[in-house]
Amino acid sequence: MNSLFKSFDNIWRLSIRYKHDFTLKENLAEIFENGTKYRNQPGTRRLFAGNLPFKLQFAATSVINKYRNKNFRRNVHEIENDFLRIFVARENESSANDSNNTKKIKVDESFNYETAVKDREFKREMQQQQRTLYFQKEFYNNHECASYMAARLPANYAVLSRVMNEIRNEEPDFHPSSVFDFGSGIGTTIWAADHYWNDSIREYFCVDMNENMNQLSRELLHRGTSNDDHISNRIFYRQFLPAKHIPSYDLVVSAFSLLEMEDTRSRLYVIENLWQKTSGCLVLIEHGSKAGYTALMEARNFLLQINRQIRMEPEPLRPQSDETEIVDRLSSTSGSIMAPCPHDFVCPRQSTLHKKSYCNFGVYYQPLDYGQPNPRIKSEKFTFLIMKKHGHFQWKEEQKNWAKIIEPVAARAGHAICRICDNDGMLKQIIVSKSKSDRHVYKCIKSARWGDKIPMDVHECSTATKTTDDDDSMDE
Ligand SMILES: C[S@@+](CC[C@H](N)C(=O)[O-])C[C@H]1O[C@@H](n2cnc3c(N)ncnc32)[C@H](O)[C@@H]1O
Repeated sequence: MNSLFKSFDNIWRLSIRYKHDFTLKENLAEIFENGTKYRNQPGTRRLFAGNLPFKLQFAATSVINKYRNKNFRRNVHEIENDFLRIFVARENESSANDSNNTKKIKVDESFNYETAVKDREFKREMQQQQRTLYFQKEFYNNHECASYMAARLPANYAVLSRVMNEIRNEEPDFHPSSVFDFGSGIGTTIWAADHYWNDSIREYFCVDMNENMNQLSRELLHRGTSNDDHISNRIFYRQFLPAKHIPSYDLVVSAFSLLEMEDTRSRLYVIENLWQKTSGCLVLIEHGSKAGYTALMEARNFLLQINRQIRMEPEPLRPQSDETEIVDRLSSTSGSIMAPCPHDFVCPRQSTLHKKSYCNFGVYYQPLDYGQPNPRIKSEKFTFLIMKKHGHFQWKEEQKNWAKIIEPVAARAGHAICRICDNDGMLKQIIVSKSKSDRHVYKCIKSARWGDKIPMDVHECSTATKTTDDDDSMDE
């Protein structure tokens, strides 16, 4: 379990350190005086139970029992390790698996995606490529899909729950009525979204190239829900990403699927397509590795760039139509980041990428019991981005500018050290001490956790020390 907090030991050595003043956000001193616990302050994002719902656990266990064969344990183990072997390919390196059996993602930084995504020819080509890939790819068979489920379901569910909890905390009034899931696999998104917005969701649209995965997703739902739940009546499966963007969806998700695509072109084609389909939030999730972070940053920079471009273009004239609802949902293509970043600037971690510094968060989960010795609680690191679309939903944005804690807090006797990403796009290391800081500020920071937001404004007051140390390393 300790591995999750290894990065905590790696001291922040890359910046000039400042002393800071803190001002609590409005009314917060009052709510603490009235007895609200510091760990329950409104910026808290931790999730205590990312465990599988009982029904899903039951369904997964019966699927394991059905497909278990003599190689099952070995296959599960291999899939668990597979994700640790994905690297970012260096220039001119092939993205295919190399002789060491390691996968690589290819990143093309010079790719001119602005013009490319507008190019109809390019879009046709990508659709064609998707279908060709489908016939070339060696897909998981039923047994391999079940092994994938045994290896990844609890971890993926814990991460998705944590990210959806983030949306619920940021915008409690957001109640999506439709969900689009790209690379839906075993249907983890359906289960996690159903947990949060069961009352409001009327439709799930799942896209996965692999028909065996779609079949397993149906089987899990069939085994895990009673006939009167009618959840299956709300779910539609497709093998290819629709090129049209009507209808749009309130919540669009791509979880752990970007790394499955081979190059920048295909990833950005998908991102652009998903963003067009979004009327509420677009959620992108990847593994908390360097490869995952790189793919996510590629998507983040791309989305911010097209948004910036849109903001500079003149407002389009709204068509006169009876279908105002549909027009409203699609009329805006601009948006901004909901989480984890409290700003829309370039990720400050990117400038230190060569030093293996990247943004990730952590969750714990209880693995499924598939006959392995000692199935202990494990941890999973992930990286994510939630973009909200302007136009259809009224976003409250109350906590938009609150700084995010991006590494575990070091709570020591009499003081606490905390690293934040602030709303000016800067990484900051803040130190609060019992004797010198405001009582509420000190207790808030001391009880805060990695991933929480801090309910205060942080101001630099004077330069203290300048420290630069090349030995900066984040746990991969
Ligand atoms: C790692 S799985 C993720 C499963 C699921 N999102 C979850 O969280 O459990 C990635 C899935 O993406 C699918 N996939 C990969 N490329 C795709 C594409 N171009 N179109 C549709 N599905 C794709 C794969 O078949 C696979 O099932």
